[in-house]
Amino acid sequence: MKETSSLTAYVNNGFVPLEKAMVHIEDRGFQFADGVYEVVACFGGAYLDLQPHLQRLQRSCDAVNIPLPKPMSELEDLVQQAYAKNPFKDAMVYIQVTRGVAARSHVVQTTMTPTLVITVRNLPKPSDDKLKTGVKGITLQDIRWKHCEIKSIALLASVMGKQEAAKRGADEAFWLDEQGHVLEGCATNIFAVIDGVLVTHPLDHQVLGGITRDMAIQAAQNAGIEVQERAWKLDELGLTECLMSSTTNAVMPITAMNDAAVGRGIPGEMGLKLRALMLLKLDDLRAGVKSS
Ligand code: PDD
Repeated sequence: MKETSSLTAYVNNGFVPLEKAMVHIEDRGFQFADGVYEVVACFGGAYLDLQPHLQRLQRSCDAVNIPLPKPMSELEDLVQQAYAKNPFKDAMVYIQVTRGVAARSHVVQTTMTPTLVITVRNLPKPSDDKLKTGVKGITLQDIRWKHCEIKSIALLASVMGKQEAAKRGADEAFWLDEQGHVLEGCATNIFAVIDGVLVTHPLDHQVLGGITRDMAIQAAQNAGIEVQERAWKLDELGLTECLMSSTTNAVMPITAMNDAAVGRGIPGEMGLKLRALMLLKLDDLRAGVKSS
């Protein structure tokens, strides 16, 4: 574990030691959660899908009417610099943009300078410990806002969901819509394997378009696995596996939901296959192999 005293963050036009990295108490991110963010993985200097992450940041900014704080190319350069200034080989780079600082008022001032923060943390290799058993999930009624496609920093519902999961000895909480369809996790997307088909909720306002979700769909299709983006439920006949995906997890089998076994209650064939395909891509990145 690296000391935080050796870490460097980018805050509003400059790099500073992490302990000195501050934003104003009237930053609208602090006052209103008025901001958006991204989490990008970097393996030995090679980014996993940096462009799709930056494009999603742009879409999130556009959706809430916050100007992108820097031109795309400059942002990309700052991400590279932030990675280079920190001591990790494999890293998670957080990019956070808020509307900026103003006296507290719900109404947005017209001339505001967005706050840009970039921090870097170690990215542990997706753990194989959990792989022996898979992870445990719980389901909760979705209490989030109606724009989950925006990667907003307003994550209170997700924090509460994760807390509830931890309290019940589970790893992740998954949100259900009013009809009981499974949407996504607090910080992950979710797939089911139903009659051998990989199924996941379609992209709409109820789910974040995960970059790893896209990667998993692509990997499955390349391997000749049928993929369906449709609403699904946990009690569907023929459901044999569930998997979750995110930048920090790649793909991880979910073997229990609300304390009941999913399928046979062990990591399944499809989950293990997709995970192996995704980890191969990460190994290629580490080794400097250009992806196709
Ligand atoms: N979370 N859905 C939600 C609600 C998320 O917060 C995330 C990511 C995902 C997966 O997206 P991606 O594959 O692009 O990482 C899906 C990040 C990792 C986080 O908040 O830390």
